[in-house]
Amino acid sequence: MDYEATKKLLAEHGQEQLLQYYDELDEGQKKTLLSEIERIDFSVIERASSDAGRARGVITPADAVTAEDIDKNRAEYEKLGIDCIKAGKVAAVLLAGGQGTRLGSDAPKGTFNIGIDRKLSIFGCQMNTIKEVAAKAGYAFHLFVMTSRLNDDATKKFFAENDYFGYPADRIHFFIQGVSPACSHDKKVFLEEKYRPVLTPNGNGGWYSSLVEAGYKDILKRDGVEWLNVYSVDNVLQKICDPVFVGATLKSGCACSGKVVKKAAPEEKVGVLCKEDGAPTIVEYYELSDEMRNARDAGGELTYRWGVILNYLFSVKKLDSIDLRDLPYHLADKKVPHIENGVKVEPQSPNGYKYETLVVDMIKLMGSCLAVEVVREREFAPVKNRTGVDSVDSARELLKLNGVEL
Ligand code: UTP
Repeated sequence: MDYEATKKLLAEHGQEQLLQYYDELDEGQKKTLLSEIERIDFSVIERASSDAGRARGVITPADAVTAEDIDKNRAEYEKLGIDCIKAGKVAAVLLAGGQGTRLGSDAPKGTFNIGIDRKLSIFGCQMNTIKEVAAKAGYAFHLFVMTSRLNDDATKKFFAENDYFGYPADRIHFFIQGVSPACSHDKKVFLEEKYRPVLTPNGNGGWYSSLVEAGYKDILKRDGVEWLNVYSVDNVLQKICDPVFVGATLKSGCACSGKVVKKAAPEEKVGVLCKEDGAPTIVEYYELSDEMRNARDAGGELTYRWGVILNYLFSVKKLDSIDLRDLPYHLADKKVPHIENGVKVEPQSPNGYKYETLVVDMIKLMGSCLAVEVVREREFAPVKNRTGVDSVDSARELLKLNGVEL
């Protein structure tokens, strides 16, 4: 798109500020700016505002298969799961495109050393569980790793330097997630340089569209992959392609499933699996009213107790039948460094919005979801912060509790 066409486009969306330094730029920078602007989907900004105001349906509690129920049928589920993995029908998808701002490091979160006396990265930790399952099934299932344009090079380099953690390199496939613009509170897209708008990772809800866009549908088709186990990078006890989980999902006939833990306390900051107008959905912790957050059933348990841990199994067939463009956009209030009056500003408090779609919103589109309780101490050690709650410290304690040498 040339300068005149870009100017017209920006005028249509009220974003003319993006060209305010154009005359100061050299030819290369002018080209970069015009092509970066061309990549921006301005409709996201408009859509996000209407999505934010959307009313939710009637929220009611959802049931889960308890860890006790799972134990009763463990052998049967495990066999079903192993057979499915062995037949190549399951692949894993690692969501590693986040910026990990709370951890406070520019490096990809998965490269963080969780070891104490030895080196053990978060990626390494998770790859160990992948290798265990692959060995048990006698089949090295595919692993798709979603990165962002901010951490793609560093992530690939780390995998290569670590010799792919002893997993066959040709079974690991990287792809970059999409971007969305970051805006001021009055919805004007920021510039990070005079010749470059701020484009940030567009949330973890775009994983399937980005995987397909990267051309990996061919691998899914070629190898008959029917299920995708999506998991987050920031849980060092994450069990990946867990055969029991796979087996329980297959047996249920549901189009997707999610691992859940009993919330530790009403105020714990995890999304809760619920029903919305009778259909499965996830309600974020900040969306629950105080009354719902604290409600207890006759047995004294939290009524809304099933916290999700970002470990889901999705049916590929169902994914292909739904329109992922229906995912709502969320506004995240963040600190966004940008150019103001010609100089770089590093804000100390949130000054703008990033736009994200979320994997949790896919559950509703999938139509049916089996919630499977797992034992928190064995499977949920989130690394969000450096210290305190859900931190490097708490995750290390939980790893030790599970016999992992650090
Ligand atoms: P979080 O919601 O914890 O976000 O991600 P984050 O960016 O990693 O961390 P903070 O909030 O900045 O501290 C949950 C999972 O979703 C992935 C993350 O990598 C993590 O596995 N994610 C998040 C993406 O893959 N892409 C995104 O755009 C956002």
